[in-house]
Amino acid sequence: MTYILGISAYYHDSAACLVRDGEVVAAAQEERFTRRKHDHRYPAHAVEFCLRRAGITAAELDFVAFYDKPLLKFERLLETYLDYAPRGLRSFLLAMPLWLREKLWIREQVSKEAGFEGRVLFTEHHESHAASAFFPSPFESAAVLTMDGVGEWATSSYGYGKGNELHLLKELHFPHSLGLLYSAFTYYTGFKVNSGEYKVMGLAPYGEPKYLPLILEHLVDLKEDGSFRLDQQYFDYCTGLRMTNDKFDRLFGAPARRPEELLTQRHMDLAASIQAVTEEIVLRITRSLAKETGARNLCLAGGVALNCVANGKVLRDGSFERIWIQPAAGDAGGALGAALTAYHHHLGRERPVHNVIDGMEGSYLGPSFAQGEIETRLRDAGGVFEVLDEGELVGRTVDALEAGKAVGWFQGRMEFGPRALGARSIIGDPRNETMQKTLNLRVKYRESFRPFAPSVLREDVADWFELDEDSPYMLLVADVVSDKRRAMTEDEQALFGIDKLNVVRSTIPAVTHVDYSARIQTVHRETNPRYHALISAFKERTGCPVLVNTSFNVRGEPIVCTPEDAFRCFMGTDIEVLAAGNCYLAKERQSPALREDYKGRFELD
Ligand SMILES: [Fe+2]
Repeated sequence: MTYILGISAYYHDSAACLVRDGEVVAAAQEERFTRRKHDHRYPAHAVEFCLRRAGITAAELDFVAFYDKPLLKFERLLETYLDYAPRGLRSFLLAMPLWLREKLWIREQVSKEAGFEGRVLFTEHHESHAASAFFPSPFESAAVLTMDGVGEWATSSYGYGKGNELHLLKELHFPHSLGLLYSAFTYYTGFKVNSGEYKVMGLAPYGEPKYLPLILEHLVDLKEDGSFRLDQQYFDYCTGLRMTNDKFDRLFGAPARRPEELLTQRHMDLAASIQAVTEEIVLRITRSLAKETGARNLCLAGGVALNCVANGKVLRDGSFERIWIQPAAGDAGGALGAALTAYHHHLGRERPVHNVIDGMEGSYLGPSFAQGEIETRLRDAGGVFEVLDEGELVGRTVDALEAGKAVGWFQGRMEFGPRALGARSIIGDPRNETMQKTLNLRVKYRESFRPFAPSVLREDVADWFELDEDSPYMLLVADVVSDKRRAMTEDEQALFGIDKLNVVRSTIPAVTHVDYSARIQTVHRETNPRYHALISAFKERTGCPVLVNTSFNVRGEPIVCTPEDAFRCFMGTDIEVLAAGNCYLAKERQSPALREDYKGRFELD
């Protein structure tokens, strides 16, 4: 057997993954273990988990594969600095100690940390993304497109894959980057770069793309084939510690929004505009890619591939018949791409045939806990529970959902990638008109202009949404079908911001956005039988094959990993039921003193 450990680290979202004879057997992000969001340090815990899951030691690994080439990245940093010198000296000097201490010594570091004496292979950043998009996909051949902020030099690449071969045809280079452009607007609208992009996308439907002409005239020189150049006069990311500069502020008529400043229509229009520009760029690229490769299938990865609204548009645009998106599309997934590149390119081995949807096992690749272990650990934490068989557990959970309760659903192996997919999820009844508000304010401790995502049975998706495809990773957006929608009155249409979201606009309001769209997760019996059984039972009772699905965590915290994490989040919030393995915990049965104690532990940030 051939074992390859893939690692991504030192940028953001460190992760490890283990590939055995070309099959992904384990993958996880470091943040889930260390409880530090977007942890970028060497993924010691994730590595340890992967080895333990496969039952091997580091000495049994054939290779370790690292997801980018640190020396090339260093060269980019250095050259960019020299291009702009002496501007940017401060950010250059700030970055240096970390490079000299850690990043340039990755081979030594990996050997030391993992106790691995063998060969460490390095894959280019976009090669890693591309490999993570194509090799686990369900396609024998496909066009491949990667887009992100920046790796070494590349910010986007495309090519095609066939069998165990992957060929990259073209790259777009730093500083011309769709990811960085989107991040610049994320920064400018007052959200956190590298994580707030999702919020900008969620904000876009509230606005009009009024600034689209301005962006295309001044910032982006966009070509017919989707390639583009960004006018660096408006950006500061090459030299400074900010994304945009004073000239950018003047162009858009105001300084960047501060994080706690009120969101206005202008910010929503800015979000709508950058979203529209992004969609235009992605559509031009995918159309020309379809022409150039003649491929009927498309695979996507890189941070921009998490833009599920743009992905939905690509699908509906029809240049490709089918599209598949790597669930860990960001840099965590690079660990997987690096390992698969080592297997297929370095060793030249064939791709295994995937019988179940694709090679990601529904992305349920993280740690799981045996029933006995869950019981012991919950008991040690002070939990009071009943142990039910699967039928009872499902029945009781449906009772709770129907009664409007928020349920913590902790089952099987943790998801790999940023989305919770019914293994570490908080779930609720999407028909409930107050569910959206309840979950946001009393469970997740945030006010949000984003609705939640629906989990829907794969076989029923087309009855509820304008989509009849697999979307197992919540990476495609489509509208709720018209006969499930409710028309708005004039008064309702005039509402603004969160008020607009609180208007009931379909029979499943908790998962319907203001433009009737939804971020869909199709649930498949083959990859998550228990979640599938739960939604089936909910459908049998209510006629609705849809649940609200949001990640099992509170704001600012990584998604829960262990039974203790789940218990802590359950106790500290207004989640009313926790279904962990076969353990059923009702909030009212927990010790009041313990509840008080846990409540106090959550900082409401
Ligand atoms: Fe990346």
